[in-house]
Amino acid sequence: MNKKVFVTRTIPQVGIDMLRKKGYEVDVNGKDRALSPRELVKTLRAKPYDAVLSLLTDKIDGPVFDAARTAKIYANYAAGFDNIDLSEARKRGIVVTNTPGVSSLAVAEHAVALMLALATRVAEGDEFMRAGKYRGWEPSLLIGTDLSGKTVGLIGVGNIGSEVARIMKNGFGANIVYYDVNPNEIVERSYGARRMATVEDVLRTADFVSLHVPLLDSTRHLIDETHLSLMKPTAFLINTSRGAVIDEKALVKALQNKKIAGAGLDVYEFEPKLTKGLIKLPNVVLTPHIASARESVRNAMAVLAAQNIIDFLETGSAKNKVN
Ligand code: GLV
Repeated sequence: MNKKVFVTRTIPQVGIDMLRKKGYEVDVNGKDRALSPRELVKTLRAKPYDAVLSLLTDKIDGPVFDAARTAKIYANYAAGFDNIDLSEARKRGIVVTNTPGVSSLAVAEHAVALMLALATRVAEGDEFMRAGKYRGWEPSLLIGTDLSGKTVGLIGVGNIGSEVARIMKNGFGANIVYYDVNPNEIVERSYGARRMATVEDVLRTADFVSLHVPLLDSTRHLIDETHLSLMKPTAFLINTSRGAVIDEKALVKALQNKKIAGAGLDVYEFEPKLTKGLIKLPNVVLTPHIASARESVRNAMAVLAAQNIIDFLETGSAKNKVN
């Protein structure tokens, strides 16, 4: 009997084709939206699926695992995997995989774009023009911030943080400081990055703080009111990791009270909802979780997620296993 795979939402065809070429029966959620938890459970109950290709917008937990009793792999189409309850997966002997690496450069470039947008006030300038407010050059209009010689503080220097270090050091002559549980000798040697003893040291030192940690119990609300109060009032906070790494309410308060200069966010604690007050703030640049939204990246993510399923179904193991 053909192996059966459920794909929770349309992904690039290249991934679907790989699965079909193996002879698998592939069902794809045809709706142009994520399934609700109830819809997902109902769909998974309908057939004895062997594998599920999930998206970061799917909450994959005990009830979902129980609905798909035969599915022994969930291949998440994302670098992050905080949407999946790993301990419930472990209890049931279910393998979870992600798609690391292929989106790192795009996400790093997006983090840098947010830094540049804040420093140059490009988004505010665009809004100003579209609102028909431009009356000609003015010496004090939308004054920005120098980037060169500034200190970029990275919290987490895995694939993405390392790329940010490279771009900011080589492109802008920034000083790089970082905190990571593991020292990264490559960024230290290549970009002169200095490892600080604590997250707090990075927050006190940096002009731009950029977050590149996964969302884990230990990183949820890592940036809370106390940590925000350590940042310089002239500093900017950038988040392209996961929204809940920041206590978003505390962030809004810090921005309103000018405790920090601004924030560039691609991810939100309660996605797609935004904490009250956030969009009213002039000192934020907001993008809709698009840091890895490039055709090449999406294709590569589809290939990797499909390959993880194929490897697991054919050999019993998968390279990008996270649990
Ligand atoms: C995107 O947020 C991802 O985790 O790949």
